[in-house]
Amino acid sequence: MRPNDYRIQLIDRQPTRQDIVREVLTGLSQSPKQLPPKLFYDNIGSDLFEAITRQPEYYLTRAELAILARIGDDLQRLVDPNATIVELGSGSGEKTRELLHHLSRSAVYAAIDISAEALAAALTTLGEEFPDHRFIGLAADYLRPVALPADVSERPQVVVFFGSTLGNFEPFDAVRFLRRWADSLTPRDGLLIGIDLKKDRERLTRAYNDAQGVTAAFNRNVLTRINRECRADFDIDGFDHEAVYQSVPGRIAMFLISRRSHTVTVAGQPFAFAAGERLLTEYSYKYTIAEFHALADRAGWTPVHVWTDPENLFGLHYLRPQASRATLSQV
Ligand code: AVJ
Repeated sequence: MRPNDYRIQLIDRQPTRQDIVREVLTGLSQSPKQLPPKLFYDNIGSDLFEAITRQPEYYLTRAELAILARIGDDLQRLVDPNATIVELGSGSGEKTRELLHHLSRSAVYAAIDISAEALAAALTTLGEEFPDHRFIGLAADYLRPVALPADVSERPQVVVFFGSTLGNFEPFDAVRFLRRWADSLTPRDGLLIGIDLKKDRERLTRAYNDAQGVTAAFNRNVLTRINRECRADFDIDGFDHEAVYQSVPGRIAMFLISRRSHTVTVAGQPFAFAAGERLLTEYSYKYTIAEFHALADRAGWTPVHVWTDPENLFGLHYLRPQASRATLSQV
């Protein structure tokens, strides 16, 4: 055994088939029908998402990487050198790589991702590039309470949430989500979070309706996955992809539209679709810097710094937890 084999640790807490079936049945029973976006990321879906990030219309990933590439000095100043990096939804690890180059003294990196395969692949690549770091991968749904190894939670932590994935939440749920993290952290900790900016409808709509149809394939793949994992009989070609910008409240809404009236069976339960009925698969909220600051403040976070790309498409924010009542009463 190589002495360094303990360096990369993978913990499997993936949702079970039963968890997935339960969430699908709950979503399809609602009116209008909906599905949770995390279901996109099976192996095929994770690959399709990577393909989306390379489409010319999908500016988000390129803009965020461009910001990351030039903020090394700022990050070194802001982030405690002993901090553990805790990333939510690390995906391919491309942004992580950029980040770890800036924060080479933060020698412990923990990642939580719903896709075990993507996580294992990302940590293997990162492990080769950063031989002195310790890597902890948790294949889990970060919407549920997750326990990190005790020695990780004892150090200062910087939570990293790239990609504007917070936009999947409705604002009220986004506040609740960020509040949970603020409550478990202290003012020596931090949050580095990427948030897509509001911009013209044209640009936003194009980003979610790429000419190659990769986003459409990504959207439809959720039905293929449900057929496989939930004993369902969706006719994949019976649904059209649609992504529209709803300027009030400022979000992309992505749907699968049933072409005809028909009934789908999922785990033994029938669901009737009308012709033209929309199944909501994802929201992607967009926030101005001021809007995001207001949201963060309600969630117990103080903005420290924000960087944008030259075209002003995307914002990368650094925040600190506000001192909680518990912390204040100690001083
Ligand atoms: C990974 C949630 C940030 O909302 O832009 C991309 C997902 N959906 N194209 C986004 C997505 C369609 C993406 N997030």
